[in-house]
Amino acid sequence: MKKVSIKGTGSCIPNRIVPNSYFEKMIDTSDEWIVTRTGIQSRRMIEPGQAMSDLATPASERALEMAGLPPGKLDLIIVGTSTADMLSPSAACIVQHRLGAKNAVAFDINAACPGFIYGLAVAQKFMQDGSHQNVLVVGGEIVSNRIDYKDRATCVLFGDGAGAVVLGHSNGNRDGEILATQINSDGDLWELLYLPGGGSRHPPSYQMLDEGLNYVRMQGNEVFKYAVRTMTDAAQKIMESAEITSKEIDWFIPHQANIRIMEEVARRLEIPMEKVIITVHKYGNTSAASIPTALDEAVRSNKIKRGDLILVNSFGAGFTWGAALFKF
Ligand code: ACO
Repeated sequence: MKKVSIKGTGSCIPNRIVPNSYFEKMIDTSDEWIVTRTGIQSRRMIEPGQAMSDLATPASERALEMAGLPPGKLDLIIVGTSTADMLSPSAACIVQHRLGAKNAVAFDINAACPGFIYGLAVAQKFMQDGSHQNVLVVGGEIVSNRIDYKDRATCVLFGDGAGAVVLGHSNGNRDGEILATQINSDGDLWELLYLPGGGSRHPPSYQMLDEGLNYVRMQGNEVFKYAVRTMTDAAQKIMESAEITSKEIDWFIPHQANIRIMEEVARRLEIPMEKVIITVHKYGNTSAASIPTALDEAVRSNKIKRGDLILVNSFGAGFTWGAALFKF
């Protein structure tokens, strides 16, 4: 089987900074509550009229530039997102069009926050048999227009962003390698976190909007518990399968949902917080974008270096969860 490595990373975060004080004026909350319970100090949000591909396209261009690959050489584009520009076509086809990646096949994966990890896992399968050479995997999300700004338990948590990686075949040790990917789902738990409106069950209508079905609904406490359990489990399984111990991990990038979830997962995995990449304080929970944006920032700031061993894991609506282990 052919080995797969990350050739380039890129990200795009909106310019508009929304601090916790923004919510203090709208709902019964405080900067102190949000920081203590979530670790979030601010998040970034798009300007009205912007869409997911407006972030995913520049993120992809930056990853292609780092990889030194022209868009025409891509043969597969996978976008992990639950918030594509439109219900149809896929965000991946829009990104393909905007990049001018004429020779790629493009599709989305709707797996909520682990969408990027699902994308990596699927891309790895397409590449291991040698049938696909150059693959773009994106995680992008616009959550800021899917939340109810009257629901204090959800509206303070999320932000917008997009991150991308370009994958190619590995030419040996200095080139890095995706060692393992691991993805899971449990549809029995879908009602803990969902967005009911706009699909075929509740198509767009005035009644749907009146009932607020176009907003994320979440049982935060339950989600929190499952998140800790499943992220820990996925990370343990993937390290076992690769015969690697947590002591060997150079950098851990957990899904950036809540600092308390990240701290508890790191504690259970016995990974010190100095090895954990954290962006949740400034970007909030950007769902599928959280891992590729954090990865790109850490690479571009020279925190993550070629050859470092990286563990990433995530969980989200579905429930879905998973992990990936790679040498950068
Ligand atoms: N400001 C002030 N008070 C608040 C706020 C707020 N923004 N939100 C909730 N509260 C109140 C609650 O109403 C409750 O009050 P009560 O005791 O009078 O009933 C109190 O704070 C405690 O509420 P809890 O829900 O128990 O607070 P908790 O410590 O669990 O924190 C939180 C809530 C932050 C939502 C946490 O449960 C969490 O992070 N859960 C995971 C959520 C998550 O990551 N979701 C994303 C999933 S990924 C994806 O696919 C998008």
